[in-house]
Amino acid sequence: MSVVYDRKTSAFTLHTERTTWQMQVDPYGFLLHLYYGSRTDGVMDYLLPFADRGFSGNPDEAGADRTYSLDVLPQEYPFWGQGDYRSPALIIRDGAGTFGCSLKYKHHTIQSGKYSLPGLPAVYADENEADTLIITLEDDASGLKAELLYGVLPSCDIITRAVRFTNQGNRRIVLERAFTTSLDFTGGDYDVVTFYGRHAMERSTQRVHACHGIREISSRRGMSSHQYNPMLILADRDASEDSGRCWSMQFVYSGSFKGLVETDQFNQTRMQMGLMDDLFSCPLAPGEVFIAPEVIHSFSSTGFSSLSHNLHSCIRKHVCRGYWKDRVRPVLINSWEAAYFDFNADTILRLARSASGLGAELVVMDDGWFGTRNNDCEGLGDWQTNEKKLGCSLKELAERINKLNMRFGIWIEPEMVNERSRLFKEHPDWVLAVPGRKPVRSRQQLVLDFSRKDVVDAVFSQLCTVFDDVPVDYIKWDCNRSVADIFSHDTADQGKVLYDYMLGVYRLLEMLLSRYPHILIEGCSGGGGRFDAGMLYYTPQIWCSDNTDAIDRLYIQYGTSFGYPLSVTGSHVSACPNGQNGRNTPLKTRILTAMAGTFGYELDPDKLSEEERIIIKNQTALQKELAPLIRDGFYYRLTDPMVSPVCAWEIVSEDRSEVLLFAVMTELHGNMPVSCLRMKGLQPGCMYREMQTGKLFPSDALMDAGLPLPCEPGEYHSYLFHFKCN
Ligand code: GLA
Repeated sequence: MSVVYDRKTSAFTLHTERTTWQMQVDPYGFLLHLYYGSRTDGVMDYLLPFADRGFSGNPDEAGADRTYSLDVLPQEYPFWGQGDYRSPALIIRDGAGTFGCSLKYKHHTIQSGKYSLPGLPAVYADENEADTLIITLEDDASGLKAELLYGVLPSCDIITRAVRFTNQGNRRIVLERAFTTSLDFTGGDYDVVTFYGRHAMERSTQRVHACHGIREISSRRGMSSHQYNPMLILADRDASEDSGRCWSMQFVYSGSFKGLVETDQFNQTRMQMGLMDDLFSCPLAPGEVFIAPEVIHSFSSTGFSSLSHNLHSCIRKHVCRGYWKDRVRPVLINSWEAAYFDFNADTILRLARSASGLGAELVVMDDGWFGTRNNDCEGLGDWQTNEKKLGCSLKELAERINKLNMRFGIWIEPEMVNERSRLFKEHPDWVLAVPGRKPVRSRQQLVLDFSRKDVVDAVFSQLCTVFDDVPVDYIKWDCNRSVADIFSHDTADQGKVLYDYMLGVYRLLEMLLSRYPHILIEGCSGGGGRFDAGMLYYTPQIWCSDNTDAIDRLYIQYGTSFGYPLSVTGSHVSACPNGQNGRNTPLKTRILTAMAGTFGYELDPDKLSEEERIIIKNQTALQKELAPLIRDGFYYRLTDPMVSPVCAWEIVSEDRSEVLLFAVMTELHGNMPVSCLRMKGLQPGCMYREMQTGKLFPSDALMDAGLPLPCEPGEYHSYLFHFKCN
């Protein structure tokens, strides 16, 4: 059992293979956090800092003991109300409208297997792969019960947390802030690593000192957002890819969130993640339950590479589900950058025919096949085929594509509506809009009120009409704007609408997956605006960015790789010059960059030269051969592209016998110094043969001295070396 309760010391210990998490119920019933770090035995309550600190008050239970203050002691789930002035995880108002509570330990249960969360995505595991600890805390005065749920997955060094609140009292309680997790450190000096960005430039990496004050990342957009990914890393100041301690928090939720790191007056550090508390206020009537979504924790004492390996294996094996979970995904050609809105059935058939000759297996008809959709001003909400535009029915098109031995996929954006649509004309009250105010438009569209069951059911029934009739193999599920207007006609309390909206999105996804289990759904939100572990529970891949320029993609995919495996990262080869930034990049570089993902094409194959077609055909065949290794291998970042003139990454098979080394030169100068790439994760004491040249290399030298890259004139050269253990 990976969860141990020691009655003598009232300590709970969670063990994974290489980590330990510990907390303790103190004599007053408060739950204090003791430790999260390298695996160890023993009780770490010697770490508790008892000292008489001015202006740090003492709870009544401590009597005259001025050395006991919750303002200073590390806590497992800090709340507002007993004198802790640092960032609380929980703020409530009781029946009288008063802020505050005092959560005390009541009891606990330990179970084998991993808890699940009704209506919400969560890490899952077999009975023998995980254990669950539930600690019940209660606030006697208000009647609030908070059950802290812990899932322990020893083999991938993962600990998950969620909180289930129940109002056991007889008056209404309001949750004003209900974060999922909080982690206190009594010592240490840390950096905070975050992943920020914008549309078409997501998940840039930023590393800063966790100095005094609060460093916060958040979204109040109703979606997890392009601007900040719901993922946070705290690391030793000298932590690197291969050394130093680092801790991560990754939200299994796709809506508004907040993550923060606070360094306090005594240089102690607190790290938190959970639901955004702005625009949130969640009433709980007597007997009502509310669940704070899950956060995935991991810890590594050997730097960022192993931290990423833990997160990758958790997402691949315990978040992604269903038919496509372990299958190599089809190589696809998407119509968007090839034709935008300007297509008919012949265009799609032409793309399919031409791309099939290059090795593509699936053609995706992107935005524009439904309603009156010919531009982004109309049609969203009407999920009926525009047969006039296509020139045939959807079924006919799908069948003709299948005859070409290609699978067929389509784009949908179920959460949205244009005012110029039949749906909006019939149901103007189905959108999120505040009475008496005009809603904010974005991309000329409004957001449907997915917090309402009837709205979600109506969209589901429209989609079923399509998918019951047409053999669709793939759906690209888009979401092209942020929420701005928060009002639902369905509720008297507007403070939970964004949360209920997300539950509605999850419910629709779940209904579609259970009715059409073989359809592969790729998530998308203007590219990577909702790239999170919550969506990955339903969509085992997500379009990484609308930016398909290979060089920009190197940076985007670098940041993405900290938390997410290549098997979920949608990446395609696009035309040149690139449609987003006009850059020219060699075809090989575009292909190798797209290989660090689910792979496909975002171009018109008929516009390629014969020479380009041959390269693409050969490289697609190579990609298919390497796809299982790329999907399942250990991923290593070999350089930091923010500071290095080369972006290099490596994939090593689980048994270390096979290795792929990718490198792209991002800078070009006269008389360039040679870049020597020190490889990682090889089997020590072995010889590896590079498959193209047949040359043998000693693994220890490849890891110590590295592999020199050739110096070649010309911009953005790229290299792929394939090694096998001899
Ligand atoms: C979003 C997606 C694109 C494309 C368009 C269609 O921006 O990210 O790939 O599907 O929508 O409108």
